[in-house]
Amino acid sequence: MLDLTGKNAFVTGIANNRSIAWGIAQQLHKAGANIGVNYLPDEKGRNEKKVRQLVEPINPSLILPCNVQDDALMAEMFNAIAEKWGKLDILIHCLAFANKEYLGGDYSNVPRDAFLNCLDISAYSLTHFAHFAKPLMTEGGSILTLSYLGGVKVMPNYNVMGVAKSALEMSVRYLAAELGPQNIRVNGISAGPIRTLASSAVGGILDMIKHMDNTAPLKRTVTQQEVGNTAAFLASDLSSGITGQIIYVDAGYEIMGM
Ligand SMILES: NC(=O)c1ccc[n+]([C@@H]2O[C@H](COP(=O)([O-])OP(=O)(O)OC[C@H]3O[C@@H](n4cnc5c(N)ncnc54)[C@H](O)[C@@H]3O)[C@@H](O)[C@H]2O)c1
Repeated sequence: MLDLTGKNAFVTGIANNRSIAWGIAQQLHKAGANIGVNYLPDEKGRNEKKVRQLVEPINPSLILPCNVQDDALMAEMFNAIAEKWGKLDILIHCLAFANKEYLGGDYSNVPRDAFLNCLDISAYSLTHFAHFAKPLMTEGGSILTLSYLGGVKVMPNYNVMGVAKSALEMSVRYLAAELGPQNIRVNGISAGPIRTLASSAVGGILDMIKHMDNTAPLKRTVTQQEVGNTAAFLASDLSSGITGQIIYVDAGYEIMGM
């Protein structure tokens, strides 16, 4: 049975009710996990307010600010987790960013600063998370990230984010090899296209979703809840033999050649 009772799960990347992270947090909560979440701090405090309101029904025991480009804030977040929970069992990395200007057009036009910024937020942050989570996962653990097929194959407009996802997926493998002896598993879910704040920045997302309706074996794209269910499985002992893998939750689209 999928039971996460007694597990402490920290979920990053909730922006609003469409966020994949929100789908994941709800499923982890349903399976009995004790939940913590972050919000991306902004000057007017809007993100914090929005996240606090949204997550109320799942009653998180931690709601912390985190911008993955702010090392001090990141350290504070993991210190707060250590202080409040003692141990961490599940860490969900569900965030990414690229300047909208470079999620379309010619890939060769991406300037160095936009490239580095995208790779820093979208890929390096997983490695940095693992660095902090390692000493807290004293009873083993599960680290999970979110990827997309555009990190393996060329997808229209995905451009620099595809390169970041490629780095992210390889980080999953290196981290899984490093952390396996501590019984910390590291996996990724490669999700089909879902309409969210982040995906709306990628040119032609609605066309991609329509394409899924015609081409994917299940003749549709996937929901946040379906991604959340797989996340709960990967976070649980039911998947105790799985690490270093990228699991496709994409209605089967990845297998198609045409
Ligand atoms: N929506 C899709 O179609 C789809 C498909 C496959 C994979 N994904 C991946 O799922 C993950 C979640 O995206 P989503 O689609 O739910 O969109 P979303 O906009 O709801 O979530 C993106 C999150 O990234 C956070 N973020 C951005 N910059 C940050 C920073 N510097 N520090 C901390 N957090 C920061 C945002 O606050 C937001 O919560 C991303 O990794 C995305 O690439 C999305």
